[in-house]
Amino acid sequence: MDWLIGLIVRSFIFIFPAYVANSTPVLFTGKRAIDGGRAWRDGRPLLGKGKTWRGLIMGIVCGTLTGAAMALAIAPDMPAGIIYYAVFAFMLSAGALLGDIAKSFIKRRMGLKRGAMLPILDQIDFVLGAYLFTFWLFFPGWDVYVFVLLVTPGIHLATNVISYLLGHKSVPW
Ligand code: CTP
Ligand code: MG
Repeated sequence: MDWLIGLIVRSFIFIFPAYVANSTPVLFTGKRAIDGGRAWRDGRPLLGKGKTWRGLIMGIVCGTLTGAAMALAIAPDMPAGIIYYAVFAFMLSAGALLGDIAKSFIKRRMGLKRGAMLPILDQIDFVLGAYLFTFWLFFPGWDVYVFVLLVTPGIHLATNVISYLLGHKSVPW
């Protein structure tokens, strides 16, 4: 039982800034689309209006600040550690949101409109992006990587349903 609690704690401390980065944009949707309204060769939007600069920047800022606050809480007397962890949280957040952008690119190429569902990828896009951007900085172990991938779809769906009920999202996924 102890190993499971340890795994849960390690996993959530590791991925939490990416969760924050991924859930922030919906609260700060901007007007300027990252793709500037441009279309790809297939005539469909490059990314679509659901990916805005304001959402991206606010997500990275909030994810990074979350990481810095966590490091400050865990080890307040280690300034170098706090800076290192803030940089790590920045990479987690940037990776998470670029993963989300890459997924939108794939969805548009598949002919799916903004907000249309793409099960699994919609839920784990940001986790894959976060892994890709940070594995070379810090690797928490395969157990953490696999555990986070397994539990994230459920958590993500739950937070999206809450977002939808609060009126921040137009669809509950
Ligand atoms: N959002 C944003 N900027 C981002 C990411 C998200 O402004 N970089 C906002 C948009 O209002 C978006 C909402 O957060 O509609 C929910 O994000 P997401 O589910 O990732 O986008 P979708 O609207 O579902 O679009 P897509 O089909 O491209 O995933
Ligand atoms: Mg979506």
